[in-house]
Amino acid sequence: MNIEEIINDFPLLKNRNITYLDSGATTQKPVQVIDVVKDFYENFNANPHRGAYSLSMEATEMYENTRGKIAKFINSRQAQEIIFTKNASEALNLIAYSYGMDNLKKDDEIVLSIMEHHSNLVPWQKVSKVTGAKLEYMYINDNYEISDEEIETKITDNTKIVAITHVSNVLGTINDVKKIIKYAHKKGAVVVLDASQSIPHMKIDVQDLDCDFLVFSGHKMLAPLGIGVLYGKKEILNKMTPFLMGGDMIEYVYEQETTFAPLPNKFEAGTQNVEGVIGLGVAIDYIENIGYDKIQEIENEVVSYAIKELKKLDYIELYLTQNAKNHSAVISFNIKGVHPHDVASILDSEGVCVRSGNHCAQPLLRYMGIDSTCRASFYLYNTKDDVDKLVNALNKAYSMFERFLKK
Ligand code: ALA
Repeated sequence: MNIEEIINDFPLLKNRNITYLDSGATTQKPVQVIDVVKDFYENFNANPHRGAYSLSMEATEMYENTRGKIAKFINSRQAQEIIFTKNASEALNLIAYSYGMDNLKKDDEIVLSIMEHHSNLVPWQKVSKVTGAKLEYMYINDNYEISDEEIETKITDNTKIVAITHVSNVLGTINDVKKIIKYAHKKGAVVVLDASQSIPHMKIDVQDLDCDFLVFSGHKMLAPLGIGVLYGKKEILNKMTPFLMGGDMIEYVYEQETTFAPLPNKFEAGTQNVEGVIGLGVAIDYIENIGYDKIQEIENEVVSYAIKELKKLDYIELYLTQNAKNHSAVISFNIKGVHPHDVASILDSEGVCVRSGNHCAQPLLRYMGIDSTCRASFYLYNTKDDVDKLVNALNKAYSMFERFLKK
């Protein structure tokens, strides 16, 4: 597929006259995903696992087949290791509550990186407060990366959990998670990997990485909003108690006691986002059909062009690693002296959508000595033309603010 054919698959990009550079927040959806959601409601809608009639059984089959597809997609050993959640945040809360609360005690250590999204930070603060375990952070160096020394200093024999993002949603830094996982395991810690910003862009193989848990959100990889995935090693998931209680996660319920269903149902209380699951399955087909090699080829060309063009603007401050191979599809920047919300509003008036603010990563920005940035994030439907539009809009914004800025 060439880029024109790809863009042609995204109705919103054709229906709205915009330059969409906020795929880190959520991606646009291809027509194949939109159609399957409609088709589900028009032809298959019933509650999976609840009916002995064929419509419900068909819905169950579609739901469970997608679980199998996801297991294959991330190379998990079994479909039972895949739990559907609302999003990555819910998956991280599930791990924190079900694993963290039960397995940590006073003076154990939880190691995070300073670049975590609040979703992989606030739940661990709660675990720390309840259990008395200490929170430790791996900080970034001047090149916006976590050094080997930092990994080896912060992960110690007391570390019981390392929870880390694969790719920073602010910096675009790709962490060397394989190295972190190996080192954490050597110290006896369990590793939680947040793949929300990586899985849209690169192949994830949970057996090769050997992470104990992995989470991601469907909506950042072409799927509908409201569907997330938790992967966990079966032997760990089996020992955990459920996070949410309700329908379909039980075996027997008595007046005073309940026994729980086996995996994966144990962690899927209540009616699920079935159309989201099915949409996620089609999003995976779409990604696999194009292939990560092609996705990376498109992104590398556009992102490296964006960095080159942004570096030419002396009024811009960029926050990214100088090692291109450690950088993904997110570029954070500021017009020196101008608030990013003002910049983003002017870009919006030019039809360019970027995110501005703290990107749900306040500790990172505080550590960097700033409180917000603009962020352009790219995906497989972006082109160099989008970059030119961003640069033109930035020049316009700068020309509006220039006279107010101190030289
Ligand atoms: N976590 C999403 C982002 O980084 C919403 O924009």
